Amino acid sequence: MLPRCAVGVCHVLMLVLCVSAAEDFDWTKNHHGSFYYGTFPAGFSWGAGGSAYQTEGAWDKDGKGLSIWDVFSHKKGKIQQNDTGDFSCEGYYKVKDDVSLMKELRLNHYRFSISWPRLLPTGIKSDHVNEKGIQYYDHLINHLLENKITPIVTLYHWDLPQVLQEKYGGWQNISMVNYFSEFANLCFERFGDRVKYWITFNNPWSVAVEGYETGEHAPGLRLRGTGAYRAAHHIIKAHAKVWHTYDTQWRGKQKGLVGIALSGEWGEPVDISNQKDIEAAERYVQFHLGWFATPIFHGDYPQVMKDFIGRKSVQQGLGTSRLPTFSPQEKSYIKGTCDFLGIGHFTTRYITQKNNPSGRSSSNYFSDRDLAELVDPRWPDPGSEWLYAVPWGFRRLLNFVKTQYGNPMIYVTENGVSEKMLCTELCDEWRIQYYKDYINEMLKAIKDGVNVKGYTAWSLLDKFEWDEGFSERFGLYYVDFRNKNKPRYPKASVQFYKRIISSNGFPNQREVENWRRKAVETCSSSNQLLAADPLTSHMEMVTEIVVPTVCTLSILLSAIFLMFLLRRRN
Ligand code: NOJ
Repeated sequence: MLPRCAVGVCHVLMLVLCVSAAEDFDWTKNHHGSFYYGTFPAGFSWGAGGSAYQTEGAWDKDGKGLSIWDVFSHKKGKIQQNDTGDFSCEGYYKVKDDVSLMKELRLNHYRFSISWPRLLPTGIKSDHVNEKGIQYYDHLINHLLENKITPIVTLYHWDLPQVLQEKYGGWQNISMVNYFSEFANLCFERFGDRVKYWITFNNPWSVAVEGYETGEHAPGLRLRGTGAYRAAHHIIKAHAKVWHTYDTQWRGKQKGLVGIALSGEWGEPVDISNQKDIEAAERYVQFHLGWFATPIFHGDYPQVMKDFIGRKSVQQGLGTSRLPTFSPQEKSYIKGTCDFLGIGHFTTRYITQKNNPSGRSSSNYFSDRDLAELVDPRWPDPGSEWLYAVPWGFRRLLNFVKTQYGNPMIYVTENGVSEKMLCTELCDEWRIQYYKDYINEMLKAIKDGVNVKGYTAWSLLDKFEWDEGFSERFGLYYVDFRNKNKPRYPKASVQFYKRIISSNGFPNQREVENWRRKAVETCSSSNQLLAADPLTSHMEMVTEIVVPTVCTLSILLSAIFLMFLLRRRN
């Protein structure tokens, strides 16, 4: 028999082993496996999504204030073809139409965002609350619920009120924390009796890096090396404050959940037997997903970010790190502020170690990571330049989240693929393939024990794709932006996704293959319909502009002629 103290030591050792086993992601095993036929857990929620600026249009209607995206997109040269979201899908006027599309798909949930300046034109609650904006979201929420579709609502999908940008510098300024929290509180007050899933921020990585570091997105600032870290710091604090507000003031009566939607692209080591590559790949993920997830789940930035940015700041001759720090009180306030984690995932990169010398001016978010991103030329790349279809990366990411953050409840808040098509194409076989394989990898992840509760296809409609304008189409439904009525047409993927939803997964190979075949068969007739559409718009122009103009001119001419005759008589 072992002495008592030895039993105790063994016990502690086993505990340590269990804890570290639970926290360690195994970078060295990447078995892709074959397609997995099976179903999702009962009650799994299927959805699709969109966001306010990308779909609503009505940019200056019914008392809405300007957002940073209204202003940014109106500046020449910022967006492909100088497109703007002024009209986009005109979703503001098409709630009923769009909800019927969701019903057609048999969606369980719809993810949308609330435009902050539509509710608060200056961004500040004490200035003015725009009741017409409240009415619009009431109408949308009520209509979804009447059709048994659960609303999942994002409070910030990038459209900051312009006044807050101009007056305070937007997310560079700590005052955003209070302004955002007042806006969120208003939403809880007005909609929280019906909305039970709240997302504070959508993809704050993009807000920080593309808005304040590279300037490709609104507000278009290039504050290299500091801007993104500062913006992220304030966003994390704002998220925590909103979670606490909900927790203390609303959760008791409303019984909802508050989470955050983070983007998580996967980084795979180029060589899984090379420790340097593994470390570089982990850094890639920690600088992206971990930047936000680690404070929210563990109370502070990832150690690797603190080490790398700290060291580079010293080499630059700076007195303090460019990465801001949280006080002990802030750490405990931020830790644990997540009822569910939203994951937006699209693609994967191979990662290898690469040293970036840190000169005084050269340091920025990207060079701070000391790595290089690579792609496999065999990966399909049907649309957006950055988006390669690598389904197995999704399973790897979901397992990473499970091990790193204590197996949180996950909702996939975005996943999908785009096309770059000059002419219209509804037979989107590549999207069918993408959804089929990515959803299958998610199913494998659930079998691995990852706690995924729902999936949101991105996106319901083609829409304004930020700096790419309308040139990239992510929709399940095609939107004809040339036609002022913005008609929607189902792509083949609608039929396919609908089948996945109604079977709650993939029953067997024969059936899944049949779904694909049928979907592609039906889309060719819709394609013909769409081809006839320019003719319809032409006819509309004839009836709405040409006919009235000709009539008015004829009446005028007849009147002149009559006057002329009368004069001659006199
Ligand atoms: C993430 C953004 O949240 C979403 O708005 C965008 O449409 C997708 N990425 C695709 O680029």
